[in-house]
Amino acid sequence: MKPVVFNSTLLRDAHQSLAATRMSTAQMLPILDKLDAVGYGRLETWGGASIDAGLRFLKEFPFKRLDALRAKTKTPHMMLMRGQNIVAYNQSPDDVVAAFATQAIRHGMNTIRIFDALNDPRNMKTAIEATKKAGGEAQGTICYTNSPVHTVEGFIKLGCTLADMGVHSLCLKDMAGLVSPRAAYDIIKGLKDNVKVPVWFHTHETTGLGASSYLAAIDAGVDAVDVAIRPFSDGTAHPDHTRMMALLKGHPRRPNYDAQLIEEISAYEKGVYEELSKFTSHKNEVVNIDALRYEVPGGMLSNFRNQLKELKMEDKFEEVCAEIPYIREKLGWIPLVTPTSQIVGTQAAMNVKFGRWKQFIPGAMDIALGYFGQTPAPVDPEIRKLAAERSKKDPIECRPADLIKPRMEELRKELKENNLPADDEHCVIYAMFPQQVKELYFPPKEEPKPAPAPAAASAAPAPAISARVGVSGNVTNLAMTINGTTHAVSVEEIA
Ligand code: CO
Repeated sequence: MKPVVFNSTLLRDAHQSLAATRMSTAQMLPILDKLDAVGYGRLETWGGASIDAGLRFLKEFPFKRLDALRAKTKTPHMMLMRGQNIVAYNQSPDDVVAAFATQAIRHGMNTIRIFDALNDPRNMKTAIEATKKAGGEAQGTICYTNSPVHTVEGFIKLGCTLADMGVHSLCLKDMAGLVSPRAAYDIIKGLKDNVKVPVWFHTHETTGLGASSYLAAIDAGVDAVDVAIRPFSDGTAHPDHTRMMALLKGHPRRPNYDAQLIEEISAYEKGVYEELSKFTSHKNEVVNIDALRYEVPGGMLSNFRNQLKELKMEDKFEEVCAEIPYIREKLGWIPLVTPTSQIVGTQAAMNVKFGRWKQFIPGAMDIALGYFGQTPAPVDPEIRKLAAERSKKDPIECRPADLIKPRMEELRKELKENNLPADDEHCVIYAMFPQQVKELYFPPKEEPKPAPAPAAASAAPAPAISARVGVSGNVTNLAMTINGTTHAVSVEEIA
């Protein structure tokens, strides 16, 4: 029996999940030699929220980090890409998606893990094809969620569809740590029986089920699992490397990694964790029972608490959480992962604050109208109608990106006009984060007020949503900024 392979999330998802994605390239470089010597299957080093957070808070140009890490390691690298959303919160045109994947591979990325928040394979197609064309490995991803319409068979079927699209491997991605060991076993076994490509599994320890789900998946034949190293492991991050080794004692598939080396890495990372203490929280280090009760990502819950505080709605936490399954049902039981987790979370807060659908946020209307792709179940017809009326947009059935015009040349022109580098790397990053790229080269004179530290959110980086509340007399002004668009509401108190 082949030993199971471990991948390391230490340099990307682990600090995204526990330290608000704040680990800098400078903090990564000193440990690369040791991390490279472990013999991991992949080092996850890029993508997800690390590009947004790196630009926004650490003022690092993303490709520079990739180059720096790549130059000092022999282990293959992997990254996370949100399909047609790339690493942003809404869909990009095909030419930008393809250029992004191409440049990532050109800069030494090996495996691109490609997912779609709705599990719509049409939203993964361009990224998969571009990755393959550039000589990289495209990994097709199945986002796990619990709902009345999601079944073991359905997840296996999606895996078969992705395999037919020519991916090099598959990943079962359980961003919220909600999969039970039994379900993990059944899905992995079903995939192994039905596809020829390797099957990997990614989960978080948020609800305390992660390591047992890995064990079940290893029994079912999973090829690789993602682990982290203390103190950047467990909690909202991934099952700990050393703990997994202990769990596998006597198991025929136990891999062989140097325990001493892991201890040395861990000793170094303790210092980094200390340096990032402003962004870490005890709440993220322990088993989150709320995440089990509400079946939503742990990161989303911690973001929620902050948002509700700003909206002066702390006492409504239970009510807002209870609103989430209602919204998911109406919107066709979409999984909760960036960007749907932020959209559904905000809509839930709006529904509780103002009454159901009184404030229908643009992202939720776009989901209802098909602009994020096909939902797992049909959207409630009444809600779809309401969204069409309010947004004055027509519902669509086609692949959403078919309606988006190419942008690369326009982006290049804009970069030149702003005296910024206009290569493909800058075009693709600028397409998603124009303001951040500008500020990287021309820092604003006055330091912008630091954004409130997001609770280390794995699936929900805080930059996507911020809220401001102002009270003047008997009028409460509420401004919610979602992915750069501000929605303002004034509420007058009538005595
Ligand atoms: Co993750």
